[in-house]
Amino acid sequence: MFAAAHRLVLSHVRRYCQKTPIKPIKLRISEAASGAELGAEVKVQGWVRSCRPQKTNLFLHVNDGSSLQSLQIVASSELNDPLLTFGSAVEVTGILKKSPHQKQSVELEADQIHVIGECNPVDFPLKVKERHSFEYLRQFPHLRCRTNAFSSLLRIRSEATTAMHSYFKENGFVQIHTPVITSNDCEGAGELFQVEAPSTGNEEDENFFSVPAYLTVSGQLHLEVMSGAFSKVYTFGPTFRAENSQTRRHLAEFYMVEAEISFTESLEDLTKVMEDMFRSATEHVLAHCAEDVDLFHKHVTPGHRETVDSMLKKSFPVITYSEAINILNRSSEKFAFPTHWGCDLQTEHEKYLVKHCGNIPVFVTDYPYDLKPFYARDNEDHPEHTAAAVDLLVPGVGELCGGSLREERLDLLRARLEEVGLEDIYSWYLDLRRFGSVPHGGFGLGFERYLQCILGVDNIKDVIPFPRFSHSCLL
Ligand code: 4AD
Repeated sequence: MFAAAHRLVLSHVRRYCQKTPIKPIKLRISEAASGAELGAEVKVQGWVRSCRPQKTNLFLHVNDGSSLQSLQIVASSELNDPLLTFGSAVEVTGILKKSPHQKQSVELEADQIHVIGECNPVDFPLKVKERHSFEYLRQFPHLRCRTNAFSSLLRIRSEATTAMHSYFKENGFVQIHTPVITSNDCEGAGELFQVEAPSTGNEEDENFFSVPAYLTVSGQLHLEVMSGAFSKVYTFGPTFRAENSQTRRHLAEFYMVEAEISFTESLEDLTKVMEDMFRSATEHVLAHCAEDVDLFHKHVTPGHRETVDSMLKKSFPVITYSEAINILNRSSEKFAFPTHWGCDLQTEHEKYLVKHCGNIPVFVTDYPYDLKPFYARDNEDHPEHTAAAVDLLVPGVGELCGGSLREERLDLLRARLEEVGLEDIYSWYLDLRRFGSVPHGGFGLGFERYLQCILGVDNIKDVIPFPRFSHSCLL
């Protein structure tokens, strides 16, 4: 009885399937190329990376950004269409097969190719088979994501973002969304973009926030508020600096990863987190984006993989600022900026120190007190007066992270704020020292500089989707 019913159901299903054409399975190119649906009728969509019509067959490579790999499409030359050009958008259906020519490779035997979006090859600034320089591509921020190198970069950037969040999650940090608009100048360096609503002509509306407001230069002060409740907090967001410099490591808008930790005992508590985070994120990226990272290490910045491997092998040395100055003073190198105790370290000095320490990341601690912002903890040392601040310098880039222990002692902090005339504006900050103050500290890592460091990319404008810098805000 049961067997008969079962046969009846099967025959209905068979008849239904004969009448209804099987709907192709929609796959991303990375899924199709993995060979997961071999033998099945599938549909893929993407942009043509190459098109080779031959006598009997037509060969296409189609990429949809899901991975570096493009999928080879083989079709009868009858399916050729003059609109099938480099850059055009297509939808292809057919059967996924093992490639007869390349072992472990998959190709799609197409029965239908539909051009969704045309691309005129004469006007298209990207040319098939041409390796365009990053500099050339910078003119086309709306199109450069279609190149192999830039799409690999953006997948790596996305994975590195995940890696940073995972590190903090696994280590008990609470993520805080610090504000983008703020009424304080955390770094005190005066590199602020002011935020104003358009003028309405009505005097009462003139000052939207009733106080001057700016785009944030750092989420640190807001994180310090939160570290007074959660102990370990972090933020990862856009940061803005009106620096009028067009260097290879400065942007007007960049992303910063910042952490703040309560109950710290020494700078070592911070350097440990900085080093662990760097290692953990880098190992994650190398493991999860191997193909994309290889593209950089083999073709864009050949030889950089060895630098990355050696960074991960050795623990990061720590030198004090005073030791750094001694190293620089003893060096035979001709620096554009001469060095002496009390001077700011310039990029040329930072790069020299990194080389001197074996071309691996190096921590420089205990900077002159007068070089650091009001929040840095006073080491109360003499005669060379220093603050408990630390920078992490890395190969090729120089400063990657800046951090410090914060002045948690009310009297010292108040005295310093009074000295610079900021005690009224920062009365809330002094409150944090009045109500349950604890030793604490934190740091910020420039996310674009991190990407430059692990990929060996020379110019910071090539590791962010839409770079903003003085005299340039394309799109
Ligand atoms: O050293 P900075 O200025 O430190 C701070 O802002 C601290 N308040 C952070 C903290 O302790 N929470 O900036 C941190 C890092 C730098 O080391 C650098 O990597 C990056 O941010 N950075 C920039 N990156 C790109 N373009 C710029 N204009 C940058 N300015 C700083």
